[in-house]
Amino acid sequence: MSSFEMPKINPERIPKHVAVVMDGNGRWAKARGLPRTAGHEAGEAALFDVVEGAIQIGVKELSAFAFSTENWKRSPEEVKFLMGFNRDVIRRRLDQMHEMGVRVRWAGRAGRLWGSVTSELERAEQLTAKNKVLTLNMCVNYGGRSEIIDAALELAADIKRTQIKPEKVSEKKFAQYLDIPSDVDLFLRSSGEERISNFLLWQSAYAELVFLDVLWPDVRRETLWKAIEIYAARDRRFGKA
Ligand code: IPE
Ligand code: IPE
Ligand code: MG
Repeated sequence: MSSFEMPKINPERIPKHVAVVMDGNGRWAKARGLPRTAGHEAGEAALFDVVEGAIQIGVKELSAFAFSTENWKRSPEEVKFLMGFNRDVIRRRLDQMHEMGVRVRWAGRAGRLWGSVTSELERAEQLTAKNKVLTLNMCVNYGGRSEIIDAALELAADIKRTQIKPEKVSEKKFAQYLDIPSDVDLFLRSSGEERISNFLLWQSAYAELVFLDVLWPDVRRETLWKAIEIYAARDRRFGKA
């Protein structure tokens, strides 16, 4: 299916955890004279091709930004579409994910999320809980700041119950209270926008940022591999000289 072969990269230089901001669906649709929803629909194939490409190249964890805590500001029609669409995608793709050994996890707040979306996500989590090939964090009604606040509140409750002493609160400990505890190695955003948009704020403290000028529905596994090549050529210093 592809003309672009998987690049040969030293396994030590493959990012363990990749975060993807799946952006540009609306612009993709607009360029074709289609409604914005058609762009979201076309984005489904992109995500699952990226999942397959991630497995092939050896990525262990992929966090996909599907709906942000800010996306409620969109028109009621688009919000409604995105709720139903996210639910249907998870339902439709569940068996395929399970067969591929993907562990599905949901990151985000329940809050305004449709009950049918959370129940589909929870069903996926249960079915795939023991899978080891790749962890796919589906970030739905996710915001980095709200995740940090929720973690802080849970930690405060544990301190109050004397489950943990304040002096034992390290960065590592705090991260365990987050929906997604692991650091992001590669932060990839499609569509040409160069911003974080409240995605994985804590986890991306030392992530390598890669912004590619391709709209999400046009993204394929080759796009991920290209980003990984860019990542592999970077010098990650973590403050060292
Ligand atoms: C990303 O595409 C999908 C979601 C945010 C749900 P957009 O819908 O943001 O597409 P653009 O940025 O308007 O092109
Ligand atoms: C980020 O994209 C959220 C998702 C991809 C789900 P947005 O399109 O919502 O972000 P902004 O508004 O351009 O920052
Ligand atoms: Mg956008």
